[in-house]
Amino acid sequence: MDSYLRLGVNIDHVATIRNARGGDHPDPVRAAKMAEQAGADGITAHLREDRRHISDADIERLIDGINVPLNLEMAATDEMLEIALRHKPHAACIVPEKREEQTTEGGLDVVGGAHHLKTYIDKLSAEGIRVSLFIEPDVAQLDAAAGLGAPVVELHVGSYCDSRQVARSRELQRIEKAVVHAHSLGLECHAGHGLTYDTVGPVAAMPTIAELNIGHFLIGEAIFTGLENAMMRMRSVMNKARARETA
Ligand code: PXP
Repeated sequence: MDSYLRLGVNIDHVATIRNARGGDHPDPVRAAKMAEQAGADGITAHLREDRRHISDADIERLIDGINVPLNLEMAATDEMLEIALRHKPHAACIVPEKREEQTTEGGLDVVGGAHHLKTYIDKLSAEGIRVSLFIEPDVAQLDAAAGLGAPVVELHVGSYCDSRQVARSRELQRIEKAVVHAHSLGLECHAGHGLTYDTVGPVAAMPTIAELNIGHFLIGEAIFTGLENAMMRMRSVMNKARARETA
């Protein structure tokens, strides 16, 4: 198995800062191009129903402006489906979305929402868009994702990142179990949400995880060290953890 671990950079929060003043600075597309220059394997952007950060115009400009794959995070709604089918990003990560949440709070309920999700997975896949489902590290959710024919799952690792000590090692075990199960089902496994220099190592060390999507922490660190330095340090922690595991 290819042990290269891709780093996808989520540029949503560059748009959050831009939108705080309603103008066009800082530009998330410029940040995406910088991330690409600094070695990002992909760019992730979440077009939310309320357009609180990324806008429709940003998606259009990202499609034209970057040379690495775009992963469009989207809710399973007809509006987002139409946008995805129009722009045909490399990948679409289907996420749950609640209007009042600060960020994506949990994974999709693929078990309960299978019927609804199937239409979206099928329509996106028919246009060659690689679909991933953002789910909790849970065996039943993985089984349901595989049953729907989704090629990729992204595991929500926020509970691991937000917990401490014993609870954190319990969460890590849950992720490990899910990653092994995803592999046994033939699912490509990604992970994301809340990853930092401190939390990324143990996740990066899991050899069948193919991609990590990281946003808030990298954009925050970029304020202090620049995006390139923040990405290089993140990449270095990821690579060291992966190399130790596969040595
Ligand atoms: N993956 C998914 C599916 C997400 O919804 C998010 C947050 O938008 C991320 C990864 C990145 O999370 P963070 O910004 O906490 O690094």
